[in-house]
Amino acid sequence: MRTPSSLPLLLLALAALVPAGRGRTLQDPVDVDVDGHSPTQLDATRYEVGDEEAAAAAEAVTAPDVSLPGLGSLSGTVTLSDQKRRPIYSYLGVPFAEPPVGDLRFVAPVPKKPWTGVRDASTPGNICMQVDASSLLGLRARRPRASAAQTQSEDCLVLDVHTPQVNSSAKLPVLVFVHGGSFLTGWAGEKNPQGLLDHDMVLVSPQYRLGPLGFLNLQTEGVPGNAGLLDIVEALRWVRDNIEHFGGDPSRVTLGGHSAGAAVTSLLYLSPLTKDLVQAAMPMSGSALAFWAWDRKPEQAASDITQAALCGGPGQALDARVQCLKKLPAKRLISSYILFILKAMQGGHLIMSGSCPSVQQAGVVVLPDLPENVLSSPDFTARPYLTGITKHEGTFPLEVAEQYYFGPSKLTNNATYLRNDLIHVVLQIIGLDDPASYVADASLQAFMDLSTLGDFAAMRDGVIDLVGAFGFKSPARRIAQLVSDHGQPSSYLYAFNHNGALTQNSPQGVSHGADQPYIFPDGTTWQGADLRVALTLRQLIANFVTYLNPTPADVEGAAVANTPTWAPYARDSERYLELVWPPAGRQWFGGQLTVARRDQFSEGGAAASSTGTSTSTGTSSRNQKADTGGAAASAPSAALAAVVLALTLALRGNGV
Ligand SMILES: *[C@@H]1O[C@H](CO)[C@@H](O)[C@H](O)[C@H]1NC(C)=O
Ligand SMILES: *[C@@H]1O[C@H](CO)[C@@H](O)[C@H](O)[C@H]1NC(C)=O
Repeated sequence: MRTPSSLPLLLLALAALVPAGRGRTLQDPVDVDVDGHSPTQLDATRYEVGDEEAAAAAEAVTAPDVSLPGLGSLSGTVTLSDQKRRPIYSYLGVPFAEPPVGDLRFVAPVPKKPWTGVRDASTPGNICMQVDASSLLGLRARRPRASAAQTQSEDCLVLDVHTPQVNSSAKLPVLVFVHGGSFLTGWAGEKNPQGLLDHDMVLVSPQYRLGPLGFLNLQTEGVPGNAGLLDIVEALRWVRDNIEHFGGDPSRVTLGGHSAGAAVTSLLYLSPLTKDLVQAAMPMSGSALAFWAWDRKPEQAASDITQAALCGGPGQALDARVQCLKKLPAKRLISSYILFILKAMQGGHLIMSGSCPSVQQAGVVVLPDLPENVLSSPDFTARPYLTGITKHEGTFPLEVAEQYYFGPSKLTNNATYLRNDLIHVVLQIIGLDDPASYVADASLQAFMDLSTLGDFAAMRDGVIDLVGAFGFKSPARRIAQLVSDHGQPSSYLYAFNHNGALTQNSPQGVSHGADQPYIFPDGTTWQGADLRVALTLRQLIANFVTYLNPTPADVEGAAVANTPTWAPYARDSERYLELVWPPAGRQWFGGQLTVARRDQFSEGGAAASSTGTSTSTGTSSRNQKADTGGAAASAPSAALAAVVLALTLALRGNGV
């Protein structure tokens, strides 16, 4: 009975990790976005403020050259911030490590050697070699793609620095923000500084090796895994040594990130390597405890990729295979990786293995133990941790599966399959060993209406909740708990539930990544509640980065309009901030795990998209329903508590 095909596994796993920018229907052709933005408008190099007057004002200011002792000088560029329209001095494509080529491929990076003369840092650097995840499986583009002008290269270990003041006495707090993209795609320029740089902080956007170049792990010194994580560690060391010259304070560095970048953030927060480099962490929609973030058995995938690259099979000497992999043209390694993925589809394996963080037995070890064990250890030095999720994290993976698998194979019409197999398929994605069907049964109780099993339309909200809970919400909550167990300092948890102009008519709802354009403007002109949410989110982040508290009391310049005190998470009350307009302090975060079904989201979605209703305040009936959803959250049901517990125990022993 349980013979789930591998295809939905793969699609769901990949889709869960393709970072979203905004709501978009999958039926639309690649070049047309339902929001009226073409991909070119989202081009990574686009920093300019919309109007000519502002552009002229920015041109009237010049960025001073910055001299870094022991390294060299940089010349930068100027733009203006979003609201205050004050100068942002940007230094782009700044190398922090030597090119990781030749013998340095796959291993820990080495610091950048000095250069002579003034290095031009006014245009973006090379982007890292990457898989086009959207074309790989015929998925529609959901994120700005690299523009043709951007050169992909192994020589990509660069970062962008954005600062409001080039003044080594300024000592501003620093946010190092790691881009997402499934550990396969993405680049520094995605993180437009115009929003956050209305505040007094320095923003650093580092690049890291992606895919097999960043994460291949043969458990040997030559290919030891986690090179991409070590790239971010090296970037943090560069920040420690140099950020003062850009107006930053090296003792006040917060590491943040989104999606895969959040997993990187969360894993490095646990790593002894960053203990003295990072004072706080801010992972958004990603966690070290997520099933997709940490591979416990990377060798098989690495071996298969090696074989696909014609660098020898398991029977051959490891040393020779490693030498072959080091000499292989990078493009061929990427194409071998793609061959491996396509083959994995037929064999039912997860796509992330071979290209994501993993347990190491050689090289510079990032984590000495499993993430959960590190967190639970009394020796762990907890620091402030702010994390959260979006309301409908589960919609995008589900839509992709519907369009590319369930639909064509007519499985959504197969009541037997839906009743007997669907939950098991989803659980198999997360690598759960559930022989007694304990988690599956509890999941049915917690997420589904048992009277509607077999009717896909009626089951849809439950599946959205299930995928969102397992992939994002439950791992976020679990880390918040474990950090809070260490007492002070605190963890803060949020639920981004605001259904704004970009998402309210999308069947994906407040999807994975829906929060990001509010923080990092992408060309959208926010109005009404959307603008208030954007400004609130940026102020909360600025406060956390500055005071290690998103809502400090009685601090000049830190007041957050219409926002209650954001109380730290605690196990007894499960307090969190619901990011809607106006923001609301809530209890029982566990209630967020079943929010789509409680709201009857899909039903509302159908109504909203057919009428396209939108009032002048930028809200729809669906939005209003969404914004009151959190109020209904209550203590998690016994079944839900059982699922979360089972999931935790299962992942502890049997994670992917
Ligand atoms: C540099 O920063 C210090 C400390 O904030 C300030 O006193 C000084 O005026 C600044 N210098 C310039 C040139 O802005
Ligand atoms: C429905 O799914 C079951 C597996 O649960 C399968 O055995 C059966 O062939 C499917 N029926 C159709 C009509 O595809």
